[in-house]
Amino acid sequence: MDYQEYEQVRSQVMGRGFVIAIDGPSGSGKSSVSRQVAAVLDMGYLDTGAMYRSVAWWCQYKNVDFSDESAIVACVKDVEIKVNAVPHAPRFFVGGMDVKDVIRQPSISNIVSSVSTIPAVREVLISAQRAIIEEAKASGRGIVVEGRDITTVVAPDAAVRILLTASEEVRLQRRSLDDWGSQGPDAIEASRDIVLGRDEKDMTVANFADAAPGVERIDSSDLSLHETVDAVVYTIGRKV
Ligand code: DC
Repeated sequence: MDYQEYEQVRSQVMGRGFVIAIDGPSGSGKSSVSRQVAAVLDMGYLDTGAMYRSVAWWCQYKNVDFSDESAIVACVKDVEIKVNAVPHAPRFFVGGMDVKDVIRQPSISNIVSSVSTIPAVREVLISAQRAIIEEAKASGRGIVVEGRDITTVVAPDAAVRILLTASEEVRLQRRSLDDWGSQGPDAIEASRDIVLGRDEKDMTVANFADAAPGVERIDSSDLSLHETVDAVVYTIGRKV
């Protein structure tokens, strides 16, 4: 897409408070893509995975026993989460602490599913996510929201709903480069458990393998980041 085509879509969404919902598995590229789409369309941006990571980090920081679900739920219910839902500098505060960087550590990737698969934790975070979405709608700016259950549970009435997928091989390569800075065989193996094991666990609470009715599926396996952003912006322009 060229500059004019981007401008066309931007004018279609401007001031209309649209919600763009994007789901996908680990390594599908949804965070980088969603963030860039939000930036070019001048919309808000919410990374819901970062919210699950934030509360997982907080539970770890508070030395909660991860085998005790009720202790995790009490810890999550007790803390205030604040989100700066903008694409250029998204920030997350838990208990007043800025956790933007610490939540990206592989140690958090390893424990986050133990927290995110608890229904009572999801209830708390889904309601916080919906509040952020309502604010973005009311402001007219709108918001791109990405995660695992956005198209189906959090915002099933979003103006545009997209499932971003990629082959297992490509997802492993991307995550391996992100987490270990390499795509060598050892790094790929180290990512295998984190990526596939986590997806399997996460899939028990949200179906992000199949596109629900009305959800557009975009496969990014053979697309660069730039091409995937184009494909998403093009889809938005076609749907709104
Ligand atoms: O996208 P991510 O890897 O940052 O997500 C972190 C974890 O949060 C992942 O294990 C899945 C979970 N998650 C979820 O259950 N629902 C969402 N809407 C977003 C993420």
